[in-house]
Amino acid sequence: MTVLEVKGVGKVYGSKGKTTTTALNNISFTMEKGEFLGIMGPSGSGKTTLLNVLSTIDRPTSGEININGKNIVKLKDKDMSDFRGENLGFIFQDYNLLDSLTLKDNILLPLTLSNHHKVEEMENRLDKISRNLGILEILEKYPYEVSGGQKQRAAAARAIITNPKLILADEPTGALDSKSAKVLLESITKLNKEDNATILMVTHDPFSASYCDRVLFIKDGDLYTEIRTTGERKDLYNKILNVLSVIGGVGNEFA
Ligand SMILES: Nc1ncnc2c1ncn2[C@@H]1O[C@H](COP(=O)(O)OP(=O)(O)OP(=O)(O)O)[C@@H](O)[C@H]1O
Ligand SMILES: [Mg+2]
Repeated sequence: MTVLEVKGVGKVYGSKGKTTTTALNNISFTMEKGEFLGIMGPSGSGKTTLLNVLSTIDRPTSGEININGKNIVKLKDKDMSDFRGENLGFIFQDYNLLDSLTLKDNILLPLTLSNHHKVEEMENRLDKISRNLGILEILEKYPYEVSGGQKQRAAAARAIITNPKLILADEPTGALDSKSAKVLLESITKLNKEDNATILMVTHDPFSASYCDRVLFIKDGDLYTEIRTTGERKDLYNKILNVLSVIGGVGNEFA
């Protein structure tokens, strides 16, 4: 089943008469249910712009974006936030957890807000997701009592507790040390494999991207190429480094 269909999407910043920047030129790709997709590319290539238009934070200048068969470009502003709440989950770099709530209440917040979920069902979901993310034991703690990596995983739990059709992650490991990054990536992979979650992750980090099933590279606002995993993370990692060495971006510091 196709979850995301991006058709000829372009984004031009700046209005007529002034200097304009074409951030996205003509991007087309699709994502199937259960896919874990990485987006990479040099600085300024359009990654954040792409994520912003997919997450309905910004609108594209041209093209079509279908999520679960609905063209979100056509949605009215007031329908956007409902759509976002019902269909999308976000894992961003700044965790955005509320300090006055325990991790558990932070994670349950989106369910409490949408309020048509039964308590028992909520508890079951929380239990399963927290176990997968390795934060079951610290659910009663407050954000200021846990580490950055644990906060990041709580934020990931919050993003997926509503069972979103599509999870969008922007440099989710950017603020983490390599050990915490690994734990988060393994947790995300588990959600992807066990819950069949559909995940799109923007990252500049080849190690993070090596967890994906498929990686798209963008350059100057256009799709440059894509590579798929063979099932071996190390193979994908090496292929990613090869592409980056051609288009620019992060290279192998040890090469
Ligand atoms: N609000 C804006 N107004 C005008 N130009 C913008 C705006 N946001 C981004 N741009 C330009 O659009 C292009 C793409 O930017 P974008 O932020 O999408 O890149 P990126 O791939 O996320 O880069 P990085 O890896 O550095 O985060 C760049 O040339 C950038 O300068
Ligand atoms: Mg960016």
